[in-house]
Amino acid sequence: MDRKKIILVFGTRPEAIKMAPVYFELQKNSHIYDVKVCLTGQHRTMLEQVMDFFKIPTDFDLSLMKENQSLSDLSASVLTEFSKIIVSEKPDMVLVHGDTTTSSMATLAAYYHKIKIGHVEAGLRTHNKYSPFPEEINRQITGRIADYHFSPTSLAEDNLLSEGIEKNKILVTGNTVIDALHWTVDLIENNSYEDDEIRKVSKIIQADKKLILVTGHRRENFGDGFLNICNAMKALAETHPEIQIIYPVHLNPNVKKPVYEILKDIYNIHLIAPINYPAFVFLMNKSHIILTDSGGVQEEGPSLGKPVLVMRENTERPEAVDAGTVKLVGTNSNSIISSVEELLTDDKLYTQMSTAINPYGDGLASKKIVEFIKDNFKKN
Ligand code: UD1
Ligand code: UDP
Repeated sequence: MDRKKIILVFGTRPEAIKMAPVYFELQKNSHIYDVKVCLTGQHRTMLEQVMDFFKIPTDFDLSLMKENQSLSDLSASVLTEFSKIIVSEKPDMVLVHGDTTTSSMATLAAYYHKIKIGHVEAGLRTHNKYSPFPEEINRQITGRIADYHFSPTSLAEDNLLSEGIEKNKILVTGNTVIDALHWTVDLIENNSYEDDEIRKVSKIIQADKKLILVTGHRRENFGDGFLNICNAMKALAETHPEIQIIYPVHLNPNVKKPVYEILKDIYNIHLIAPINYPAFVFLMNKSHIILTDSGGVQEEGPSLGKPVLVMRENTERPEAVDAGTVKLVGTNSNSIISSVEELLTDDKLYTQMSTAINPYGDGLASKKIVEFIKDNFKKN
């Protein structure tokens, strides 16, 4: 029997983490699917870290990353270069993830060649086109074009329904990040698992201090936002010797510059390079509070029972905010400082926010996605 060819295309760290479980689930069906992986290489080091950990073989690597790349250059090259893969490989379906430039431009390339498109993590919205920027519009573009929509929650499904997407083209699956997280937690809890990066970060942790884990990279926070975030970290570290801040700094130069300028050489702040996924999961588990503007971390923190303070003005992931385990604190320094201090001093609030809840699924999202594809996607 002719196998259907499915190309998974992704290019950044979070897409790779969230597509890894989908890849493995599809591979279980390799008798019916010829599964290929195309990396755009929108990220380089941070993508390699994920590919090395999950050991996903790469069929095509477009290696597109450039230092401090612009959105338009990157978009143009994803569109052009992924189109060439489509022309040479003639896939039956392309699977994209989320809201990156890789996903929206790969979607457009597939559409131009009339290839079926499945969108994983579909339907999240803020309805504010500049926040998250450019992700809100990237995700809307993909949502408008895709043939199949895999939504993590029923709220995301509702967003798509209100945009006129047919219900039978949408499946609520949970978020595949929970599949990846469960898999990784199980692995690192296994006594025989050894990882150099976990060993390295363990050495940084000071057992007598409360660990605050920080990440940040959003474009809408560049400039004043990052200055405010860094000044808040500095003030917190100086006034609270009982805390330790560990911050794996994103490689975007617009992030690295202010972060290293303001936060280097503070004894209870540890700036480190991005770490691999198991080491980051290990650190999340050890942390007292997580401060972030990341999408994925907003989903992982709640399911690990960690209070997450989100340094953004709005979020396309309101489920955990509604459940009370995530709080939006914006990027005003005073608001960040007071929200952290509240959690450091108010035990009742801390307990409330650290009750593990998981609005993002049961760890079976990728299985549901693949079952749906098997049931619904028939070759013409
Ligand atoms: C991108 C995505 C964002 C996602 C984030 C995850 C877009 C527009 N942005 O943002 O949605 O949340 O990834 O992290 O799709 N860099 C390196 N090495 C790396 C990765 C990045 O040096 O491994 C530097 C490069 O200078 C690169 C810059 O970071 O040009 C920006 O990368 P880019 O992918 O354009 O944007 P991110 O801010 O990473
Ligand atoms: N992460 C990681 N190493 C790090 C920081 C984060 O593996 O040093 C993981 C994190 O667990 C989450 C994902 O990267 O799954 C989030 O990526 P990022 O914040 O870059 O992107 P976003 O989710 O905001 O799109």
